[in-house]
Amino acid sequence: MKKIFIKTFGCQMNEYDTNRIYDTVKNIGYFKTNDLSDADCYLLNTCHIRDKSKEKVYDEIGRVRKIYRNKKKPIVIISGCVAQAESGEMIKREPYIDIIVGPQSYHKLNKIIESFNHKKKRELTEFDTENKFNYLDKIKNNDSKVSSFLTVQEGCDKFCSFCVVPYTRGPEYSRPFKKIIEEAENLINNGTKELILLGQNVNAYFYSCGDKSYKLSDLISELEKIKELKRIRYTTSHPRDMTDDLIECYTSSKKLMPFVHLPIQSGSNKILKLMNRNHNVEKYLDIYKMIKQKNSKVEFSSDFIIGYPGETDNDFQNTINLVKEIKFINSFSFIYSPRPGTPAAKLSLVDKDVAKDRLTNIQSLLEEYQIKKNKSLIGSSVEVLVENKLKNQNKYFGRNIYLNSVIFEGEQKYIGKVINVKVTKVNRNTLFGKIDHNKNMRAA
Ligand code: SAH
Ligand code: SF4
Ligand code: F3S
Repeated sequence: MKKIFIKTFGCQMNEYDTNRIYDTVKNIGYFKTNDLSDADCYLLNTCHIRDKSKEKVYDEIGRVRKIYRNKKKPIVIISGCVAQAESGEMIKREPYIDIIVGPQSYHKLNKIIESFNHKKKRELTEFDTENKFNYLDKIKNNDSKVSSFLTVQEGCDKFCSFCVVPYTRGPEYSRPFKKIIEEAENLINNGTKELILLGQNVNAYFYSCGDKSYKLSDLISELEKIKELKRIRYTTSHPRDMTDDLIECYTSSKKLMPFVHLPIQSGSNKILKLMNRNHNVEKYLDIYKMIKQKNSKVEFSSDFIIGYPGETDNDFQNTINLVKEIKFINSFSFIYSPRPGTPAAKLSLVDKDVAKDRLTNIQSLLEEYQIKKNKSLIGSSVEVLVENKLKNQNKYFGRNIYLNSVIFEGEQKYIGKVINVKVTKVNRNTLFGKIDHNKNMRAA
């Protein structure tokens, strides 16, 4: 038996991929280890979204090299989006690396590892999404967490001017409907109670077979029927693909959680145009209003890029105004990072200090709304899907409908169940509380 250690950076799709790589390499006798210093194979699953992500990769390899200084070197594999973007260059810069494998070539990994010899370094970076999923569909997804990721769509055809994803993940591809349902059933048999459907543009999901075609809303209504499944979420969606059938799910589905992560990037139409987002602020607000009309409980979160080339104080103020209007409860904001090969890479940057000030500004406003929302829950009972016990503490962890972490005094028997927790204390990201036995008794 050999051991493989995988470290993951980046988005949920990388986390899903890491799990699938663990499932795959078992077939050639490699099993997961959590001990970095005792691996026959070390795999780093990387992210290229901002500049810092790339440097982190070389720092990490340096660390591994030190750990193995007086020991047999593991096979060192770089996978993920940096692998795709930098390809063979990485082996030149860091000869400690043995294999480079892009996100659409994981189906070839076993053969490459098996035939690997230290003299022959390999690079696999073709876009071959169809064959990857055909291969992976034959390997059981062994994930057995209460909340599991399930990739339904990969890649992106939208080419926002700032973004590397279309170059690192390749064109949009939607997995066959039936295969997704089979994988979902398998996960649910393993104990999964919540599915988070993933895609770089998950709501662009579109699969046709014969005279039938399926969208994300069809996936949601099919999954809804599986009795043991309690919750459905999806991420990340794009405003352009927020179609009426999906919006309708916010009334028709009992299992779709009332929380929409819908990145807008900027509240200025001028900047959205420069970003090639193909939607404007009005379209975003329409979606917001339509969903709220369907279900007033729904809350929103978003991603913002601050200091995009050309962003003036006025543009930034428009973003602030949008945040004030929607009152996002949980969002991500980043200073624009130029990415080689993207159309925006050559544009002149907004002054660094100005961009930093704007970031501080928006982050404190976003935090204010987040804390306000959390504080409004103190004293009330929230529905929590219990995921696990915390290490070394007699406390349990779960999430409420809005994806907030909830930590509470609980019992083992509640893992995998949705229970009511009375909120007693909150901070920015987490709610704390006790099981609300009265309410749970009434519900039962
Ligand atoms: N497909 C999603 C986003 C995927 S990337 C969408 O279209 O919205 C995740 C987030 O990273 C983006 O929403 C964006 O806010 C951020 N991001 C992407 N490229 C970036 C860059 N060059 N600089 C800073 N942030 C970036
Ligand atoms: Fe990147 Fe735009 Fe595609 Fe999102 S839609 S992954 S931001 S190119
Ligand atoms: Fe990063 Fe690639 Fe995901 S660049 S954010 S790991 S799609």
